Amino acid sequence: MPKFIVSNSMHLEGSVSIGGSKNSALPILAATLLASGNSTIYEVPDLSDIQNMTSLLSCLGASVTKTDNKGITVCCKKPLPDVSSYELVSKLRASFLVTGPLLARCGRVKISMPGGCKIGSRPVDLHLKGLQAMGAKITQGHGIIEARCKKLTGTKIYLDFPSVGATENLIMAASLADGQTIIENAAVEPEIVDLTNFINLMGGKIVGAGTGTIKITGVEELSGQTHTVIPDRIEAGTYAAVAAITKGKIRIENVIPDHLKPITAKMREAGVTVTEGDNYIIVDATEKPKATDIKTLPYPGFPTDMQAPYSSFMTVAERTSVIIETIFENRFLHVPELVRMGAHVKIEGRTAVIEGSKKLTGAQVKATDLRAGAALVLAALAADGDTEISEIEHIERGYCNMDKKLTSLGANITRTE
Ligand code: EPZ
Repeated sequence: MPKFIVSNSMHLEGSVSIGGSKNSALPILAATLLASGNSTIYEVPDLSDIQNMTSLLSCLGASVTKTDNKGITVCCKKPLPDVSSYELVSKLRASFLVTGPLLARCGRVKISMPGGCKIGSRPVDLHLKGLQAMGAKITQGHGIIEARCKKLTGTKIYLDFPSVGATENLIMAASLADGQTIIENAAVEPEIVDLTNFINLMGGKIVGAGTGTIKITGVEELSGQTHTVIPDRIEAGTYAAVAAITKGKIRIENVIPDHLKPITAKMREAGVTVTEGDNYIIVDATEKPKATDIKTLPYPGFPTDMQAPYSSFMTVAERTSVIIETIFENRFLHVPELVRMGAHVKIEGRTAVIEGSKKLTGAQVKATDLRAGAALVLAALAADGDTEISEIEHIERGYCNMDKKLTSLGANITRTE
């Protein structure tokens, strides 16, 4: 199984270019099912999650071809509404995002319940509640969800929690429903706006994305379109944390600085200098980073996907920081591995207390999920000695060529098969 071998690599310098957002590309690829013609999505990151999504689209009867500029063209004249393979859906939980489009296009869908993952139980009750409100008849049994509705009807939906996936699924379902759907307490993440921009390009009528209230007026049909996904704000934030933990100076290209505000604000609070350009930021670390508390929240709060990478940075900051994870119930899986590298961290429920300015030392550690894995790479860069990180397939679900990008910044990292 592939591993990363990382040696102490301080004061990384240079520039790194950020790829397209995984968490934007996945719902947008699902949304291509809403049209019967060709859609081409550009700047799609070459990640295993994306490969799993495009394999799923092929299983649903779509033709999927790669084009230049990291493009993927999808054409699905007549989708097959059956995704009952647990193996497929459990490998990629975002597979569940085809539920809304299939129900809207075919009037029925049979899909495996995604099940949980290491960071949490990941229920889909909010997705199902919204579809039911639009008239879908939902049955569940033997790990399979069946939803049927000849034609969904627009209605008012209030989400108990601003779930990103539920908001995305319901926007897609409502875009071909009869009448208007209003989603209140909707997620406002940039990826929701990107998805909505794509659907509106296809002929959709959606207003309010990026606010808590989204209005979708259903249309008869949508046409295939071309679209370029936004840059990945979590990959960008991860490389900002690379500069911070290695006391380096890195120019991070192809970003939307506005999307990074919760992250760059925290970095500045820790004493890091962050300069913003139109489509880049320069992160210039400080010799003595200050401990800063973080509490993960839905956007525009501090993103849960940055909690693990930022926690690694806090292990070398001065004094103690308190990290509260409010989104997922089990997102401290990186902590036991950081402790093996000499970090002093105590966990109480959803709170981790990090005693800073500890010297990290290289060790054999294991990636458990993509963001926890990224956190271990960051810690390994700052640790004395060598670190061997196994199960890096988790990391490569969310980060393209991380070893190559870090090497270009001067890091000592190799990928072994
Ligand atoms: C998306 O997951 C992202 N994944 C996650 O990124 C991200 O961490 C998360 O949003 C939060 O920002 C993709 O976009 C593919 P949620 P999603 O629905 O949609 C609860 C990464 O590392 N919930 O907003 O699954 C749920 O249990 C991944 O790139 C319900 O209770 O997130 C969780 O506690 C990890 N019922 C919370 O809401 C539901 O029906 C947030 O989930 C749905 C969600």
